[in-house]
Amino acid sequence: MKKITKAVFPVAGMGSRFLPATKASPKEMMPVVDKPLIQYAVEEAVAAGITDMVFITGRNKRAIEDHFDTAYEIEAELASRGKTDLLRAVQEVIPKHVNCIYIRQSEPLGLGHAVLCARPVVQDEPFAVILADDLIDGSVPIIRQMADVFKQHQCSILGVQTVPREQTRQYGIVSSVALTADIDQVNGIVEKPKPEDAPTTLAVVGRYILTPRIFHYLEKVQAGAGGEIQLTDGIAALLKEEKMLAYRFKGTRYDCGSKLGYLKAMVALGLKHPEVCDEFAAYLKSLK
Ligand code: G1P
Repeated sequence: MKKITKAVFPVAGMGSRFLPATKASPKEMMPVVDKPLIQYAVEEAVAAGITDMVFITGRNKRAIEDHFDTAYEIEAELASRGKTDLLRAVQEVIPKHVNCIYIRQSEPLGLGHAVLCARPVVQDEPFAVILADDLIDGSVPIIRQMADVFKQHQCSILGVQTVPREQTRQYGIVSSVALTADIDQVNGIVEKPKPEDAPTTLAVVGRYILTPRIFHYLEKVQAGAGGEIQLTDGIAALLKEEKMLAYRFKGTRYDCGSKLGYLKAMVALGLKHPEVCDEFAAYLKSLK
């Protein structure tokens, strides 16, 4: 029986929707309260027992590598000033047993191409793909929920949720048949259909568990929607050969690739943060 030990984080994207904030720093480093988006994504993977984090990076993404590396100067400074809580926060960004592997995607050819760049590391194992700008808050971390489904079914799994029909052009949209209340068998997927063409309103969010057979198809995929090599097109080919499931996760998703979603995440997580929750709640109330 196979286990998921590797997660791929495609982080080479330009983050154009947040310019000028993302002009000189990666969108994945934008903080929600006090942690950058990429740290939430990595913590989710760690909570699922994943030990190898594979980042597909590009130009201007050095800050991500620095974030998961030891910061001697900061640590020494905090230690000498006796700031033990902050020192712990800096040291616990990533557990010691976790490996970080960085692969450069030298051209922005699309999400499918980014995932294909992970092949030399992932090789012949099933793996997770996590898109950090989809921040999902669940009492059980979402990739953990999906790894549990994988344990039972040993096939590719797409994290999905129903979206308003007018939003289908932002997502991969699946056609499926319900197997249980939260698991469907997928029989089709299409990238960013217009609302009038969308077969359903069941959208893939940024969580995938894929079998290594996906690489075979990603190598063949031609540029699709937006002129990019789409992961969705590779998945569409894979599901003709292998069983694939859609999993309706339990949790709240914030689309931190959009300004509104990012603001909602900040408010929701601010209201949960032990240091500021009470004062922040009182402040929000005072606004009305
Ligand atoms: C990507 C995928 C899309 C998926 C979405 C989830 O699109 O191509 O299929 O539904 O992530 O966030 P992007 O948001 O990068 O345009």
